[in-house]
Amino acid sequence: MSDKRAIGVFDSGIGGITTLDKIYDLLPNEDYIYVGDTLNCPYGTRPKEEIEALVTNVANFLLKRDVKAIVIACNTATANSAHLKKLTNIPIIGVINPTADYAYKMSKNKNILVLATNATIDSNKYKERIERRLFKKGTRYYVKASEFVPVCEAQQMGTDYAMEVVSDKLKDLRDKNIDLVVCGCTHFGLLEKEIKANIPNANLIECGIPTGEYLKKVLNKKGLLNDSKEKGKITIYTTGDPEYVDSQIKWFTKEHENTKKIVL
Ligand code: DGL
Repeated sequence: MSDKRAIGVFDSGIGGITTLDKIYDLLPNEDYIYVGDTLNCPYGTRPKEEIEALVTNVANFLLKRDVKAIVIACNTATANSAHLKKLTNIPIIGVINPTADYAYKMSKNKNILVLATNATIDSNKYKERIERRLFKKGTRYYVKASEFVPVCEAQQMGTDYAMEVVSDKLKDLRDKNIDLVVCGCTHFGLLEKEIKANIPNANLIECGIPTGEYLKKVLNKKGLLNDSKEKGKITIYTTGDPEYVDSQIKWFTKEHENTKKIVL
């Protein structure tokens, strides 16, 4: 069986492109429709009801385009997406559970730092998933870091300002013997340099690989993989300024057309 329909992927902005990048490496023959809801970014400082409404709007846009699965490449949206099951029967793949499971596997001393938006940390979804394991050692730190999101959206990575914002957040965590930092927000991988400068002995994980592997498993099990031998097509939409988005994702080297504007 082969299903040629595209996979929908979305985030509040450009963070989810880091996830799409890794998913494409794992599933290069699939087509992808990406939505960055830039107009409404950030999600992570909004109340739950507002995030749920925004998530519904983006999901409806993707469902109208007949996608065969939706990857919520946004932790904040994932934490506020339980209601999507009522909209559709297609697989809805969130980033939190695969990433939390991967974190448990990858950490040796189980001193794990989860950095995420305020709304993701408030939802307790990472904590619930990680702490259901049996821990004989280590301490987990769940830290709200919504301040990092505008730094990424404004393309300030690599600046003194970015280092200042990240260092300020992480300064009290430097001596905790943390061996794994979870980027529990898909934007945060863009601040890898700043995070590593503060917690130099830790590995950093992002949502892309564990989520992509999980997606592949689900599509395979349901007979939804595309058996095409051609490279898949990537279409990117934004609710914000498409030219600005193109300037934000210059690092994204997978072939794609210029970003298109949508109104949701
Ligand atoms: N990239 C999003 C995430 O993974 C959140 C950014 C935002 O606050 O909108 O949570």
